[in-house]
Amino acid sequence: MIGQLNHVAIAVPDLAAAVRQYRDLLGASVGAPQDEPEHGVTVVFVTLPNTKIELLHPLGDDSPIASFLERNPSGGIHHLCYEVENIRVAADAMRSAGARVLGDGEPKIGAHGNPVLFLHPKDFNGTLIELEEAG
Ligand code: CO
Repeated sequence: MIGQLNHVAIAVPDLAAAVRQYRDLLGASVGAPQDEPEHGVTVVFVTLPNTKIELLHPLGDDSPIASFLERNPSGGIHHLCYEVENIRVAADAMRSAGARVLGDGEPKIGAHGNPVLFLHPKDFNGTLIELEEAG
């Protein structure tokens, strides 16, 4: 069912430092920071030839990234995002297999303007999984 790896998300304690590292040291194509208040994050996308890296930094008081960075002060891989053709078909398939869809289970509009949802890491080998309907 899943298609391409859309992105790997990395929570970073210092967004400006991470941008410099990816742009200047690793020589990658790095986009501008985007605030996403409804997700509690500021995001910078790094575009690689075969996928993207999503640098995540907390935004606001109750960011889901803040507690992750408390547990992982130097940052860490936060989630993987796989593309699916139809997010509702994918969500139904996950639920009927007993996998937990996070939040209210309804797809939300993600950083690329496409519908996304998240799957519980305990149901996927300790990895938070984002599914994104390919645009
Ligand atoms: Co993501």
